[in-house]
Amino acid sequence: MDVSGPSTQVNGTPAVSDRNSLSVGSNGPLLLHDTHLVDMLAHFNRENVPERKPHAKGAGAFGHFETTADVSQYTKAAVFQQGATTRMLTRFSTVAGELGSPDTWRDVRGFAMRFYTSEGNFDLVGNNTPVFFLRDPLKFPNFIRSQKRLADNGLRDNTMQWDFWSNNPESAHQVTYLMGDRGLPRSWRHMNGYGSHTYMWVNASGEKFWVKYHFHSQQGVQGITNEAADRIAGQDAEFHRRDLFEAIERGDAPQWKLSVQVMPYDDAKTYRFNPFDLTKTWPHADYPLIEVGTMTLDENPVNFFAQIDQAAFAPSNTVPGIGFSPDKMLLGRVFAYADAHRARIGANFHQLPVNRPAVEQENHYSFDGPMRYEHSGSAPTYQTNSFGRPTADTQGPVDDGWEADGQMVRSAYELHAEDDDFGQPGTLVREVFDDAMRDRLVDTVIGSLGGVQDPVLSRVFEYWTNVDATIGQRIRDGKAAADDAPVDPGEVLGGQETYAAS
Ligand code: HEM
Repeated sequence: MDVSGPSTQVNGTPAVSDRNSLSVGSNGPLLLHDTHLVDMLAHFNRENVPERKPHAKGAGAFGHFETTADVSQYTKAAVFQQGATTRMLTRFSTVAGELGSPDTWRDVRGFAMRFYTSEGNFDLVGNNTPVFFLRDPLKFPNFIRSQKRLADNGLRDNTMQWDFWSNNPESAHQVTYLMGDRGLPRSWRHMNGYGSHTYMWVNASGEKFWVKYHFHSQQGVQGITNEAADRIAGQDAEFHRRDLFEAIERGDAPQWKLSVQVMPYDDAKTYRFNPFDLTKTWPHADYPLIEVGTMTLDENPVNFFAQIDQAAFAPSNTVPGIGFSPDKMLLGRVFAYADAHRARIGANFHQLPVNRPAVEQENHYSFDGPMRYEHSGSAPTYQTNSFGRPTADTQGPVDDGWEADGQMVRSAYELHAEDDDFGQPGTLVREVFDDAMRDRLVDTVIGSLGGVQDPVLSRVFEYWTNVDATIGQRIRDGKAAADDAPVDPGEVLGGQETYAAS
């Protein structure tokens, strides 16, 4: 929109006044036929789209991805051919907090990336952790509810959170990350990003591979203490949003190096644990990191609502050479996001500039719907047609598919030799964390147990004992000591901090 000319009403006519409503005499009543006033007030009432249900609070920036290495033996995707530079949008977020919540509440951080590739939008909607709480998408809405607010008083609740986690032990790996240093990043610039799921890559000869994506922060990975996070939450709820925007404003563009782990297609059948289980990482000793390229974020949005709030990231957005996998969570997400966008933004969300693919030509049969802006003119709206509008017609096996056979069942994954819930979180606390990290983990867990009673509390102790016997004991002892010195909620505000106000 050209904002240099005189102000107008929304029908394009010059606005008579942006200051004074039309009234009968200076002190008189207002008139309904003041269309400018009516339009201003009515539009104001419709300025919001609903916030995202999870990941409501966030922000993002544009930039580009440059493929610096030759990985063409694994994928034919144009975006990952050596020398390709692709425009990007990345949005960072917290998961449970609502729109106005502080950036420094402990949480997993969303790391949603869109690559505007020459073959269409490719979205990698990941987190700052390589695993997740669950293996089955049916549990996801229950999980998010347990992290949000109680039905009666609208408060967040430690008991509800731990009740869910301790009843779903597959959460242990991700909860260990969350209660560890990754739960409180110093900034979005100072955290890694992960695709988390196992995806498929297909090369030009049709060979398939399983891959995991790792984006390593070139700013270094840094966390902050619980105390700093609490203090900042009161001082600047937008701490992370501000940090990213200001870094880019001053020309300090953050960068991440992308590496992938590649598993040969057939290894998946016999690997010692299920490589599609989202609660697991693949040891680098088995599948080392292979460098691909660099993401740089160097362009701030100019309109937060249009470019960030209405950005519609979806794991279903893939391009040739990149496919899904039998990970049930991923397959659930492939449905969930585009549906969320239809509900949150509208059926034609894909027409908005931020969501438009950067392909030379679009030619889809999506038709009409509210706010339809782009259309196919008078061309046939159906296919197959006799009037020359092309239709696609692949038959037989798809090149990014996999074999599936068996009875329809409701069942957990079949177990591989080393599948379990607590092995990898145990390794994480014992072999990856150092003493100081373990101390912070124990303190954080104890701090999160305020108000949690049996039977949930006993299950939480058992949960951590299953992760690691020593950590479990320390949490049990630390919680008992904290109970011996209870904090009276009435004392949170000491007498000297309140006064009688007139
Ligand atoms: C946002 C569903 C698991 C990362 C969302 C949204 C939905 C959703 C409905 C809101 C989308 C919107 O309104 O625009 C689900 C379901 C899951 C799941 C059903 C499991 C079955 C995951 C996992 C990850 C993840 C495993 C990361 C590995 C994100 C991120 C966003 C998001 C980063 C924010 C996207 C943005 O910035 O717009 N999820 N999610 N989710 N989810 Fe998930």
